[in-house]
Amino acid sequence: MSTSPIGTPVSRIDGPKKVSGRACYAIEHPMPNLAFAAAVTSTVGSGGITAIDTADAEKMPGVLAILHHGNAGRLYRPAGALEEMSRPGESRPPFEDENIYYYGQYVALVVADTYEQARDAASQVKVSYDVKKPLVRMRDSPLGGGSKLAGEANAPAPKAQYSRGDAEAAYQQAPVKLDYTYITPVETHNPMEMHGTLAVWEGDRLTLYESSQGVVNHHNVASQVLGMPPENIEVISRFIGSGFGCKLFPWPHSWLAAMAAKKVNRPVQFALPRSLMFSCVGHRPSVEQHIRIGATQEGHLTALLNDVRNGTSFVDEFLEDCVDPTKMLYSCPNVAARQIEVKLNVGTPTPMRGPGRTPALFGLESALDELAIKLNLDPLEVRLRNYAEKDESDGRPWSSKHLREAYQMGAEKFGWSRRNPQVGSMRNGSEILGWGMATCTWPAHQRAADVRVRLLADGTARASCATQDIGTGTYTIFAEIVSDRTGIPVDKIDVVLGDSSLPPGPTSGGSSATSTVIPAIAMATDKAMQAVLKAAPKAADSPFAKADPKSLKFSQGRVHAADQTPDSGVRFQEILLANNLVGLDGQASTNETEAQKKYSTHSFGAHFCEISYDPDIVRLRVTRWLTVMDGGRMINLKTARNQIIGGVVMGIGMALFEETIYDARNAQPVNDNYADYLVCTNADVPDIDVVFLDYPDTVMSEYGARGIGEIGLTGCASALTMATYHATGIRIRELPIRIEKLISDAASRA
Ligand code: MOS
Repeated sequence: MSTSPIGTPVSRIDGPKKVSGRACYAIEHPMPNLAFAAAVTSTVGSGGITAIDTADAEKMPGVLAILHHGNAGRLYRPAGALEEMSRPGESRPPFEDENIYYYGQYVALVVADTYEQARDAASQVKVSYDVKKPLVRMRDSPLGGGSKLAGEANAPAPKAQYSRGDAEAAYQQAPVKLDYTYITPVETHNPMEMHGTLAVWEGDRLTLYESSQGVVNHHNVASQVLGMPPENIEVISRFIGSGFGCKLFPWPHSWLAAMAAKKVNRPVQFALPRSLMFSCVGHRPSVEQHIRIGATQEGHLTALLNDVRNGTSFVDEFLEDCVDPTKMLYSCPNVAARQIEVKLNVGTPTPMRGPGRTPALFGLESALDELAIKLNLDPLEVRLRNYAEKDESDGRPWSSKHLREAYQMGAEKFGWSRRNPQVGSMRNGSEILGWGMATCTWPAHQRAADVRVRLLADGTARASCATQDIGTGTYTIFAEIVSDRTGIPVDKIDVVLGDSSLPPGPTSGGSSATSTVIPAIAMATDKAMQAVLKAAPKAADSPFAKADPKSLKFSQGRVHAADQTPDSGVRFQEILLANNLVGLDGQASTNETEAQKKYSTHSFGAHFCEISYDPDIVRLRVTRWLTVMDGGRMINLKTARNQIIGGVVMGIGMALFEETIYDARNAQPVNDNYADYLVCTNADVPDIDVVFLDYPDTVMSEYGARGIGEIGLTGCASALTMATYHATGIRIRELPIRIEKLISDAASRA
C-alpha cells in the first residue's frame, strides 16, 4: 500500500547530487578550450570615460581580446516591460556609450587563456574619466530626507498611490495621533553561488549556462539584447546556489560573456567576484516611510497615511512597493499612500526576498507597536482590534485567512500573556529580556506553466518544465505531485528542469513557483495515466484486451479494473511493454482561473521573539523565535520549514546587521565582501520554532498550496525593534539596530 508524499517531510531528490558534488552549477560545466573573462569596472560613481588605454594589457601573456565601448559590437535595449517574461535586470546594454552611472559599471572586458591572466591584464587597463560628483544616498537628494511629498506643489508624480476615505481629514480629527519616519538601508543579496555565465557558440547557435531564477525570461531577454532569433538560444540553469531575487532577471555580464565568446571564437566563462555582486546585479533599495496614524483611544485605526520613497538608479525605474501592503494589512476606513523613486548613482535595484512588503512591514508594524505603547495596550491586542476581515483595498473576500488563529496559537505557545509591558522589567539573571511580535504577510499568485509528464516502460516517470529549482525544493515538489497521482515512488521519478528548451515554466520568484506548477503537473500526470489506460486494451496479450478504458483505473502504479483493488491488475509498465511503447506523455498548462480573481489571495503569519540584552557591555542576542504560518497547504513539510527558517534568519540579519554602505565621494560600496557586509552566522540565530496551520487554500488549486518562500522574512525586523524597545526603552526607526545606536542613545539620555 503506497502512501502519498504530500504534506510529509520528503528530503530533496537532488540532495545526493548536491552533497556528493555531482550537481553541476553554471560555470562548472566542463568545456574544452575554455577562455576566461575579467571585468574592468568604473572607479568613479558618475561622469564619463574620456580614454581607455589597453596597449600594455594587450601585450600581457594569454590575452585574447579586450572589449570596450569603442570596439564592441552592437547590443540592443530590450523592449522589456511590455512583453510577458522579458524583463532585464538593467535595461542599458553594457558598453552602450561612454557614460558612467555608478561605481562598478562595466568599462572593459579582458578575455584570456586563464582566469589569472584575464584578471592580471584587467588590472593594467588604464581608464581616464571626466568625474562628476555622484549622488549616493537618498538623504543627499533634493527628493530625499524629510522632503515633503504630501501637499507640496512641486512634489514629483508618484509611481504608486492608493487612497480610500479621506485620510488627511480623518488624521486631523483623530483623538490619538502618531507621526514617525522609518528607514531601511540598501541591502545586498548574498547567495553562496555568485553570478556567472558560461557562453558557448556553435555556428550561430548560442548556449548560455547561467545561475538563473528564470531560464525562460533570461532566454527571451537574451534574444532581444543580442538581436538573435529565440530558437538559436538555449539557457541552462540546472542547479543554483540560491538567488534571493538577484537572479530573477538577467544582468549585463550574460551579454558580455556571449559577446566575448563570439569575438575569440571559444567558449568563455565570466564569473563575477563577490565585490561585483554589490554593484552590477541589483540590490534592495533604501526605503523611507513617513507614516502617520490616527486612532481612537481604544486603538482603532481611523487614518493611515504612508508617504514612501525608495532609491533607484539613473538607468532604470524601480519601485520597492510599500503602497500595496499599506492598503490591505489592517482594517482602516481612511487610507492614503503614495510612493516616489529617487534616482541615485547606484546600479539598478531589483527584487530581494519579500520585496516591498519587507521594508513596508518594518514601518507599518513598528508604527502599530508605537500606537500600542502610547495607548498602554498590548501590541497583539492592537492587531486584533484592527483585524481585516476582508481585503479592504478592493472589498474582495480573502480566499483563506486564519491569522487570528496564528496570533492566538503563537501567543499561547510563546507564553505571551506572561509579558510584563514595563520597559526593562523582565530579566534573566543580569540580562534584560525583551519580547516582540509582528504580523507577516505575502500575496499568493499563480502564473502560467506548461508541464510534460511521461510514464516510461521501465516503471519510472519523468516530469519536465522550463522552470528551475533555486534551492527551495522545486525538483522535489514535481516528484511529489506525480507520485501522489500515480503511486510511483518519489525516487522513481526523474524531474528535468532548468532548460529554456523545455515546455515554458514560471520564474522562481514571488513565492509563486509551487502554486503555479502544481495544477499543470497534476493535469499532465492525469493525461499520461489516461493515455496508459487507453493503451491497455490495444495489445494482443493485454489482460484488459476487451476492456473499455473507462472501466479501468490507474492507482498505486498499477492498471486495474476500477471496481477492484490495485493488486488485481498489472504494473503500468506492462501495458507499455505490451504495446511496444517506450512511454506515454501528458502535457498540461496552469493558467489563472476566474475563481481566483474573485478572492484576495494572501498568506499570513505571526512572529514572536525574545532578545536578551546585557546593558553592561551593550550586547544584544536573539534568544527565542516562534513563527506560526498560515500559508495554505504545505506540500513538503521539510522544505517548507526550511523556507520559513531561512526567511527568519534573513529577518534577523536585516534587523541587526545588513546594510550596504556607499562612500559618498565616489559611490563605492565599501563593505562589498563577506567580511564587512554582515549576515547572520549560526551564533546569531536561536532555534527557530515553526508551526504550520496547514489550511488548504482551494481557491489556488486542488492541493491548496499558496507559496512560502518570502513571507518568513516580512515582519521580523519590527518584531526585533519592538523587543529591543521592550528591553532598553530605545526605539530604533532606522535599521539596522547597531550597538552604537544603543550606546549613543543611552548616552544622550543619561
Ligand atoms: Mo524573489 S525577490 O521574487 O526571488
